[in-house]
Amino acid sequence: MSIRKINVGIVGLGTVGSGLIEIIEKKKNTFKKLYNLNLAIVGVSAKRKTKKRSFNIKNYIWYQDPLKMLNNPEIDVIVELIGGSDGLALELAEKSLRKGKSFVTANKALVAKHGVKIFELSNRYNSRFSFEASVGGGIPIIRLTQNSMIVGKIKNIYGILNGTCNYILSKMREDNLPFKKALKNAQNLGFAESDPHDDISGNDTAYKLAILSKLVFGFSNKISDIFVEGITNIEEIDIKMASKLGYRIVLLGISNLNNNKVMQRVHPSLVPNNSMIAKVNNELNTIVVDDEFTDKIMIVGKGAGKMPTAASVMSDILNIVDENKKKVFSSKANKSHKLISQNIDKREGKFYIRMGVDDKPGVLADITLFFKKQKISIKSMFQLDNKIKNIVPLVFVTHKVTEKKIKLVLKRISILDIIKTKITLIRIEDM
Ligand SMILES: NC(=O)c1ccc[n+]([C@@H]2O[C@H](COP(=O)([O-])OP(=O)(O)OC[C@H]3O[C@@H](n4cnc5c(N)ncnc54)[C@H](OP(=O)(O)O)[C@@H]3O)[C@@H](O)[C@H]2O)c1
Repeated sequence: MSIRKINVGIVGLGTVGSGLIEIIEKKKNTFKKLYNLNLAIVGVSAKRKTKKRSFNIKNYIWYQDPLKMLNNPEIDVIVELIGGSDGLALELAEKSLRKGKSFVTANKALVAKHGVKIFELSNRYNSRFSFEASVGGGIPIIRLTQNSMIVGKIKNIYGILNGTCNYILSKMREDNLPFKKALKNAQNLGFAESDPHDDISGNDTAYKLAILSKLVFGFSNKISDIFVEGITNIEEIDIKMASKLGYRIVLLGISNLNNNKVMQRVHPSLVPNNSMIAKVNNELNTIVVDDEFTDKIMIVGKGAGKMPTAASVMSDILNIVDENKKKVFSSKANKSHKLISQNIDKREGKFYIRMGVDDKPGVLADITLFFKKQKISIKSMFQLDNKIKNIVPLVFVTHKVTEKKIKLVLKRISILDIIKTKITLIRIEDM
């Protein structure tokens, strides 16, 4: 069998880019033996040539302008590891595919925003577009959903898609830490960026969820279709109360298909302590695919980090020569059914509600009566001992009720004189 050749140009030599170079340097000979493949890095590019790197930059041809790589006919694959939903990343994607080069990326922001457009270009120019590392880092979820391994119609896809948030919530629970302290620890250990906004706001999870929804439901969605709530409002008291009630709090990204409507949401959720998802700790990620025949399939792994993410990018490069061109995102032309986005107000489920009230006799009864009048059935309620400045925390757990109704009722309760704090609402997901 003749030796196949892949020449790669790598743009972005940071965490993931340097990991990719290390993998290629270490495994080049193995790939040759195993896959009959000659893999060569024929160009590299980053912002600063003089920056200290974990590999010897002098071994590679440096491009100060990464777009110039596209003029090199020897390069078969452009690997984009810069980041950002637009600008250079998008330009590289479009121009690479137009030139017939394969385009590999780990960039969730780019794929979430422009994935369908880029996929259509790859179809038009018969070039490959792969993005395994953009969701779940080292977890091979894209191939799992695309390679005919799941036969039935997927009804739900959900999971813990952000390692930073999972690490923070794990440490708040295990070490009784307040949010800010747990975040600081995560930053010191390299599990959180110095600017953690995208992670803790839920935006990073929303990007990944948008990609998953597009893939499994063939749904041309916008990030703004997704309900997004981060973890910044979670307090130690909520973590403790959740444990007392038999739950733990995780940040979930959830996408459900129901009667041609797709509801996508990202929010902290109480999940039962004995569920599999509650066992996914620290920086680990998990994705659950729920289809009509297999029921639930759950994969767990490192959702980020230098080597897991670089290994995912590597698998995309290796698969370029092996895989036939797959459907991936459904383009406008071949969309067989019309799906519409469904607002979270239609969600029906249980809720955990916490509020601080005046320490006066009869307050608990007043609020309970309020819920009763609105026909909201309360499963359990607690008045906690840790009173601060005459404010008593109350916790309620509801039976199933629609999101719309609970929000309406809490809006009314929040303006009562006896309510002395912001009301915390966390959704309960019985997985
Ligand atoms: N880190 C992870 O664990 C992880 C996991 C999953 C997905 N991803 C995705 O992978 C991508 C890369 O992430 P990363 O963590 O490796 O980022 P990073 O460490 O910040 O590296 C970014 C790289 O891009 C280069 N760069 C920035 N602007 C550039 C420009 N205008 N022209 C040329 N090069 C430019 C930087 O150059 P200098 O080195 O010269 O500064 C750097 O090498 C992102 O899309 C990210 O979302 C990362």
